[in-house]
Amino acid sequence: MRKFILRLPLLASVVGAIVLAGWQVDAEPNRATMPDIDSLVHYTTVTRGEVTEHIMTTREAIEAVKNGQAIPDGTHFVLVDYRDGDVYRYFVMEKRSGWGNDYGEERRTGDWQFQWFKPDGTINMAENTARCQRCHSSRSDRDFLYTFNDIRRFEFE
Ligand code: HEC
Repeated sequence: MRKFILRLPLLASVVGAIVLAGWQVDAEPNRATMPDIDSLVHYTTVTRGEVTEHIMTTREAIEAVKNGQAIPDGTHFVLVDYRDGDVYRYFVMEKRSGWGNDYGEERRTGDWQFQWFKPDGTINMAENTARCQRCHSSRSDRDFLYTFNDIRRFEFE
C-alpha cells in the first residue's frame, strides 16, 4: 500500500508529460479570436448532408470585396457549423497587419490566422491550424476565401 501511494505522483507526472507533449504537437493557440457573432452579416449558407454552414463577416469586409478593395485589418470571418440544429463548431479566420509574420513563407496565408472554436468558446486542441492554411492557400488569389464570389453577389437588405 505504501509503495502504491509513493508511486502516484510519478504516475501523475508521466501522464502529465504525455498530455503536455501531445499538446505541443497538436495545439494551435494563436492570435485569432472569437468575435461577437451577432455583429456580423450572414452572407451565405452552405449545406452538405446533415451539415449546415452559416458564413458571416463584417459589413465593411463585404463592402471592400464588392469595391475591389483590400479586406480591412481586424476583419473576422466565421463559419458556424450546425449539425441537427445545434452549433457543432465555429471556424474562424481573422486578419491583422503583420500576423502573417508568425509563420514561414511555406505556411503563411497573407495576414490571416485560423482557429477552430468549440461551442463553449474553447479552442480545439486536437487541431493543427496549418491544415486550415494549407487548404485555404489554394485561394490566395481571392484573399484566401472560398466564398469570395458569394460575397460579391450578396445584396444588403
Ligand atoms: C480541405 C480544405 C479545407 C480545410 C482543411 C479547411 N477549410 Fe475552411 N473552407 C473550405 C471551403 C471549401 C470553404 C467554403 C465553404 C464550404 O464549401 O464548406 C471554407 C470556408 C471557410 C470559412 C468561411 C470563409 C471562406 O473562406 O469562404 C472559414 C472562416 C473557414 N473556412 C475556416 C477554416 C478553419 C478555421 C479551418 C481549420 C480548422 C479550415 N477552414 C479548414 C475548405 C477548407
